[in-house]
Amino acid sequence: MRIFLDTANVEEVHLGVQLGVVSGVTTNPSLAAKEGIGRLERYKSTVVEICRLVQGPVSAEVLSADVAGMLLEGREIARWAPNAVVKLPSTPAGFQAMSVLSKESISINQTLCFSVNQALLGAQAGASYVSPFVGRLDDEGHDGMQVVEDIVHIFRTYGIPTQVLAASIRHPLHCVAAAKAGAHIATLPYKVLLQMMHHPLTDVGVARFAQDWQRGEKG
Ligand code: E4P
Repeated sequence: MRIFLDTANVEEVHLGVQLGVVSGVTTNPSLAAKEGIGRLERYKSTVVEICRLVQGPVSAEVLSADVAGMLLEGREIARWAPNAVVKLPSTPAGFQAMSVLSKESISINQTLCFSVNQALLGAQAGASYVSPFVGRLDDEGHDGMQVVEDIVHIFRTYGIPTQVLAASIRHPLHCVAAAKAGAHIATLPYKVLLQMMHHPLTDVGVARFAQDWQRGEKG
């Protein structure tokens, strides 16, 4: 399972890439707003910078709700960088835009996916990635990870090439569960990436090895 960062913060992407564990990024309008990005030009320059930092796919989301607007924006985003991926919502307009843009060889991330049926439709429409939102499903009392597992299972059964990108990840256990469910990718807030790395026994072990070595040097 590949690890992506779910952020519009360039510094976080820089740090994640430096660690050598991050191979892609997902952004959305809320994440952009969190970084004080309120204009398309700033969103574009931020995504372009992130595309330079990370070699893998970088998703940027359209803001239009109608097909014509999605097509215009999607074609524009696809021109921002060779690794830019267009994020389209799981709505009727989104599916229609997916099927047009995928035929133009534009890479698509089907976002706001909350069901197996929506994922099946996105795959038919040519999405390269489908993003089931695990945390938001859990918030509503559904089993978000079960949706991920079901999509993975069905895509495998039919040899569907669309990659399953577990999104709306809230904590490190979600990462373990996404990997067990067979997700191709999990996109994580930077905080969860840090939590994944940390274990108190590692800290204790590092300190103890250093102390023991010093004792040995004195002996
Ligand atoms: C994924 O592409 C989305 O940007 C993201 O995972 C949404 O997560 P949230 O539910 O924490 O906003």
